Amino acid sequence: MKNLILIGFMGVGKGTIAREIVRQSEYMAIDTDDMIESLENKKIKSIFADEGEVYFREIEKKVAKWLQKSVKNTIISTGGGFYKQKNLDKIGKVVLLDSSFDAIIERIKEHPNAEKKLQKRPLLSDMEKAKELYEQRRPEYLKVADIVVDVTDKSAEECAKEILRRIKK
Ligand code: S3P
Repeated sequence: MKNLILIGFMGVGKGTIAREIVRQSEYMAIDTDDMIESLENKKIKSIFADEGEVYFREIEKKVAKWLQKSVKNTIISTGGGFYKQKNLDKIGKVVLLDSSFDAIIERIKEHPNAEKKLQKRPLLSDMEKAKELYEQRRPEYLKVADIVVDVTDKSAEECAKEILRRIKK
């Protein structure tokens, strides 16, 4: 069983879908943002505020190297910028969770913890800039993905099922 790496824009549901895949399969799950928060003993928001984005990206790189060397049979959910890691294809099969910008923002806003979800993501603090980032990244996400799953209007359960079906092919 090869690792699966879930990539995609902030708020698209990478963590939720990873947990659903675990429920439906033999995979274990790991999340790159959780790893970084443990490594630094700090929330992502504070790392951005205190050390800056460049520093954060350096830790992502360190995490990517470790994943390639040390992790097997695992579903890896990632932060929205992790797709830039050069060794992504050496870590595992890359699955893009794809959705329109508006649908992603809608999804976050409908969540009972919407406020918290927005607050913890420094790159979502300015919606205009976030939309620009989305437009810039989407073609890059598509380029590195082995599998693209449109998650719009699908439950996490349906998405997980689709991913598990498609990786078997
Ligand atoms: C980022 C996405 C975040 C987190 C950090 C940077 C990005 O993760 O890694 O705030 O560059 O898109 P989520 O995609 O889980 O929100």
